[in-house]
Amino acid sequence: MPSTKALQAQQLREPLEVPAPASFADLNPLPRLLMGPGPINADPRVLRAMSAALLGQFDPQFREYMAEVSEIYRGVFQTRNRWTMLVNGTARSGIEAAIVSLVEPGDRVLVPIFGRFGHLLVEIAQRAGAKVKGVEIEWGTVFQPDQLERELKAFRPKVVAVSHGDTSTTMAQPLEALGRLCLEHGAILYVDATATLGGMDLPVDAWNIDVCTAGLQKCLAGPSGSAPLTLNERAAAIIERRRHTEQGLRAPGAVDGDRPRIGSNYFDLAMVMDYWSDKALNHHTEATTMLYAARECGRILMQEGLAAAFARHDAASRAMVAGLQAMGLRIFGDLAHKMANVTGVWIPEGVNGERVRTALLDDFNIEIGTSFGPLNGRIWRIGAMGYNARKDTVLVTLGALETVLAAEGFKLPRGAGVDAARASYIAG
Ligand SMILES: Cc1ncc(COP(=O)(O)O)c(C=O)c1O
Repeated sequence: MPSTKALQAQQLREPLEVPAPASFADLNPLPRLLMGPGPINADPRVLRAMSAALLGQFDPQFREYMAEVSEIYRGVFQTRNRWTMLVNGTARSGIEAAIVSLVEPGDRVLVPIFGRFGHLLVEIAQRAGAKVKGVEIEWGTVFQPDQLERELKAFRPKVVAVSHGDTSTTMAQPLEALGRLCLEHGAILYVDATATLGGMDLPVDAWNIDVCTAGLQKCLAGPSGSAPLTLNERAAAIIERRRHTEQGLRAPGAVDGDRPRIGSNYFDLAMVMDYWSDKALNHHTEATTMLYAARECGRILMQEGLAAAFARHDAASRAMVAGLQAMGLRIFGDLAHKMANVTGVWIPEGVNGERVRTALLDDFNIEIGTSFGPLNGRIWRIGAMGYNARKDTVLVTLGALETVLAAEGFKLPRGAGVDAARASYIAG
């Protein structure tokens, strides 16, 4: 093997080939209809808000927008939590910020796993140094309260981390009883609501959820890249004891918290809180355009009203299920606990699932998803959420799927899917 030095010398000898800028086409992608498990098409109002003028992060106008974001998302999360803000990054950044800020090395974390995103929570908690117990159930089902109570009693975790809706299986875990149990057993409840916030009811305060995070690219009708987060005083007390303000920012005489420093600078919620509070202590440079997007997503949702938005997602879900079943397809998982915004459907025997997805994309500009792990290539996941939770998008997707399936040789009653979905909408 050539040495590093020899490789470097060879690289310097080779001419650097830089493509001429003119060889790149204009950025002009075909507008797809995104009917997968997210991302979905952003509401055009959100895209318009994102083209507003950039501001400095301490501009009084910008600080006012930050305050408005907190206020709007208190409504979205149905909470009175003072600490309601954004983490800059995709939904996963909110998850990491919550877990790394709550969990000290050696803390016990319990993760009920009912799909891929439970495994993600396990991994993030392990990386934060936690002793993690993951309890997994069959994908396509959810946990019963007595099972969760047994685990809480046996493991006595400091934190329980769970997804509300796990898009990989399309299941939504009921959380009300878990919130009560965590309170009773002195555990902090962290919920990843990336895939459900704005599409399904999630009253953070009423369900005793201590920390909750999300993303914009699902039911909130925005692009990915900002993670709304809320945390209550119980969680804030833990985080504040871990505050160790960055050296270059410290006020003279600043006193550190008595607990270990949070293991990430970027995701240090103590510092993010200081940045969002009246202290306005610099941390990162807030992603201005993403804050505009998050603000507009929340504003659109609150203007529609939470109840109306949940009903819209539910209507789309019922119509999609009715349509798929009328086409002779089988819905995946426990229907009683299906998320309102994504539907899993078994790929029929003898049908090539990837060819169907490719034909939908190539011929109809419609994207649907498959799944992960044990469900990869076995189910499709069809979303109708955020801006795309509409009658027209559901009907168009079902019509296109019917044509493609028929061309694949799958025998189905022509027209039945779209008819059933329309009937579902008419029946209300
Ligand atoms: C339940 C859930 N959690 C977390 C994530 C990760 O979100 P992101 O890709 O925005 O980081 C997703 C994305 O699909 C998700 O569905």
